[in-house]
Amino acid sequence: MKSHSITLGILGSGQLGRMSALAAAELGIRVHVYGPDKDSPAEHVAAKSYIGSYTDKRKLKAFANSVDVVSYEFENIPVETIRYIQKIKPVYPDDRLLEISQNRISEKKYLNDIGIPTTRWAAIYSPSDIDKAVSDLGAKNYILKTTRFGYDGKGQTVHRASDNAKKSFGKLHSNELILEEMVDFKCEISVIIARDKNGKSAIYGPMLNVHRNHILHTSTVPAKLDAKVGTKAKRSARKLADAVGLIGVLGLEMFVTRDGRILANEIAPRTHNSGHWTIDACSVSQFEQHVRTVCGLPVGNPTPHSAAVMTNLIGNDVKNMKKYYEMKGACIHLYGKLLTRNGRKMGHVTVLKPLRAGLK
Ligand SMILES: Nc1ncnc2c1ncn2[C@@H]1O[C@H](COP(=O)(O)OP(=O)(O)O)[C@@H](O)[C@H]1O
Ligand SMILES: [Mg+2]
Repeated sequence: MKSHSITLGILGSGQLGRMSALAAAELGIRVHVYGPDKDSPAEHVAAKSYIGSYTDKRKLKAFANSVDVVSYEFENIPVETIRYIQKIKPVYPDDRLLEISQNRISEKKYLNDIGIPTTRWAAIYSPSDIDKAVSDLGAKNYILKTTRFGYDGKGQTVHRASDNAKKSFGKLHSNELILEEMVDFKCEISVIIARDKNGKSAIYGPMLNVHRNHILHTSTVPAKLDAKVGTKAKRSARKLADAVGLIGVLGLEMFVTRDGRILANEIAPRTHNSGHWTIDACSVSQFEQHVRTVCGLPVGNPTPHSAAVMTNLIGNDVKNMKKYYEMKGACIHLYGKLLTRNGRKMGHVTVLKPLRAGLK
């Protein structure tokens, strides 16, 4: 008798989909990907790929009918698309988490409502809202951001209390913005949590993240942090995952302030760049957790067997790979992107070290 193998559908066909598809293959699970671009990183390793827009119902239906369960690797899939597919097949994580994390106002409001602190913020719909917020919050420096579609620092501008509100508002070309008090942080960290259908969860991190030009540059584990910081960060991620009834994986980006507070910054309702090291340093990676949890399998053990530093290969970094091919402990991952562009994530390298020796 033939045993039934699961087929997982993934919306979005970038590197996160690619790494989930590779993890799925190890578990004997087939992946069908759906995305707008031909020759994409995930398409190269998927059993089948559908090229189409996220609003093409006919194609979306054919895709949904070809799989057992659907997930996504990209948070800007329209919520309506997820709701449409949910009528045909289960989608994890569900539309609610996606909707919350697609908009920086609903994201921060939700976090605050469940008791997870963030920087102070205000919703902005006009220049006068900026002036009012600055006078209410009373801080010197702010970051003004678009509420949707921002990534790698795009759709953000610094606003100082003394700056002209109209000018700052005009820079972002949107009628819905968020003004956030600029956090004078000691460091940036993240935690990744996987949670299965039985509510069992597994947590990676905290990772210590360093950004360059607003793009993640390195993630280091273990992060040299006060143990209390780690405990608090993990507690926030678990609280969030339980509150939204997560089935899948989410990443929570946070700031550690100079006085030891932890402020949540962003939710990624998917695998996260700061967790790529888990492929090489853990027996179960974040990508395998993603596949397991959305396919109804139990969450796995997240304990790392090695210390790791993950470095993103951005743009032309991939033209200078010799040192990594020769480096001890270096695990190279290239995403097969055909075009190298400034600021584009082309791959990453994880350098492993024995855990007990720590880093450096
Ligand atoms: N309120 C803030 N205070 C200080 N730095 C910030 C703040 N918001 C964002 N940043 C910096 O900008 C980076 C990108 O912002 P983020 O909100 O994570 O947007 P995205 O990652 O979607 O571009 C953060 O990792 C952090 O370095
Ligand atoms: Mg971010």
